[in-house]
Amino acid sequence: MDAQYHATIENLERLRAESRVPAGEKKIEAQHGRGKLTARERIDLLLDDGTFEEFDALKTGRGGSLGDAHTYPGDGVVTGHGSIDGREVFIFSQDFTVIGGSLGEAHSQKICKVMDLAVKVGAPIIGLNDSGGARIQEGVDALAAYGEIFHRNVRASGVVPQISCIMGPCAGGAVYSPSITDFIFMVQESSYMFVTGPSVVKTVTHQEITSEDLGGARIHSQKSGVAHFTSPNDVLCLREIRRLINYLPSNNRQRAPILDLRDPADRNDPALDYLVPENPNQTYDMNVLIHSILDGAEFMEVQPGFARNIICGFGRLGGQTVGLVANQPAVLAGVLDTEASYKAGRFVRFCDAFNIPLVALVDVPGFMPGPDQEHGGIIRHGAKLLYAFTEATVPRISVIVRKAYGGAYLVMNSKHIHCDVNYAWPTAEIAVMGPKGAAEVIHRKEIRDARDPEAVLNEKMAQYRHTFANPFLAAQRGYIDDVIFPRDTRHRLIRTLQVLEGKEAEGPERKHGNIPL
Ligand code: HXC
Repeated sequence: MDAQYHATIENLERLRAESRVPAGEKKIEAQHGRGKLTARERIDLLLDDGTFEEFDALKTGRGGSLGDAHTYPGDGVVTGHGSIDGREVFIFSQDFTVIGGSLGEAHSQKICKVMDLAVKVGAPIIGLNDSGGARIQEGVDALAAYGEIFHRNVRASGVVPQISCIMGPCAGGAVYSPSITDFIFMVQESSYMFVTGPSVVKTVTHQEITSEDLGGARIHSQKSGVAHFTSPNDVLCLREIRRLINYLPSNNRQRAPILDLRDPADRNDPALDYLVPENPNQTYDMNVLIHSILDGAEFMEVQPGFARNIICGFGRLGGQTVGLVANQPAVLAGVLDTEASYKAGRFVRFCDAFNIPLVALVDVPGFMPGPDQEHGGIIRHGAKLLYAFTEATVPRISVIVRKAYGGAYLVMNSKHIHCDVNYAWPTAEIAVMGPKGAAEVIHRKEIRDARDPEAVLNEKMAQYRHTFANPFLAAQRGYIDDVIFPRDTRHRLIRTLQVLEGKEAEGPERKHGNIPL
């Protein structure tokens, strides 16, 4: 080996070593002091051991208005690819120790490179965000840099799964890249997202508010519906991302990986025969049914703290990933409101884009009535769920467990919007509206003029329930393919998924539909 080559190798080793600690040990200590891991520690925890291959470790920026002296190897983001349980993913992890992880031209180019490659090879993109936003000293170049990422987010949407993890600040227009992606994870008490921070809020509205109360994990997972998953710390958050990836295909041309959890397909559950209470006004927990039917009772719920009247999430039936959408009678009686419609609509569209069959478990008394909902746009929000289910071409199955009234019956994956196979339990009530409302409309005069109006109302309700509030009229029409025993639900679903496996459905030729956004 000649001396020059030796020097080059030494130089490479030095540059690589610098790129691993670009801003010095003190900054790393400060990062740990905030309860956060570094960009590289996060990558190590997220990916299978030893699989990370880095790109652009030596790439630097141009320093913006501060000049070339103010540059760092890697420019504040670590990018590359590696595997999760043996399947390739592309990743970028922002390094807050370098100029606050702020995003400039070179930083963005690095992210765009892995996004482009991910789309080309058909692998998920995972972004670990920890950044002060647009790098101020790069001015409009920093804004242009964000635009390039937004463009790629949109182009990749529905092609490869895009997952964003917020592990620090995420402010200004920077929030819009994660919000275009499919799923947002947030870490409690160390991450926040907002379009304008507390100081701007104070200037403009004179309101004092903390970052946590303005855009912390609790707010976005329970109130705004921006975040899909939250975790108490970085380590648990990264573990949850690995879990999610296991339910998903790598791209829109593939199916999700099959995982055999050794749970017999013909396992039945006699307790389900007693799940629905005799009193139709009494609630029960839909989670009991969900956990009973899924392989190994494993369920990854999406947005568990938001619009809790509807449950969405991933599980497996016979090893195959399914997207589950279930009304939750234990919360607001399982009614569909604006938030539930948005939440489920977006989830259904994700599943459809990525070949994940949809299973609906229905117990819905209707759309939420009242001026708050009407003025809040229940018409256009409800239409999102209607549109999403109707548009979906993946295998679709529904099980009506109890109530399925009116428009909500139609929206929740009914036969009439071309669901493939529709089952009902014997406890199902499928009708235009609930017995009380129906009796009051049809028999208004008779009830009003009666000596004992309540007795007449009860009698009419009983008549109505007997005639309409059951699954048999719908079964006679063929709108319900079979009235099944609750205990057999798991087995019937797995058999039906098997038979629907070869489903092919083409829509009309068009640029794209116009979902009521
Ligand atoms: C350049 C930045 C920066 C930024 C932080 N830094 N944000 N440098 N551009 N946007 C630098 C700091 O100067 C500091 O450098 C280091 O990063 C760490 O920041 P600190 O303030 O010391 O850390 P902390 O106290 O934890 O506060 C973090 C922070 C705060 C909350 C993110 O730095 C902050 O408010 N930054 C500005 C946020 C912001 O308004 N960004 C623009 C949003 S608008 P030194 O050298 O001291 O270590 C936007 C538009 C996007 O992003 C448009 C897309 C269309």
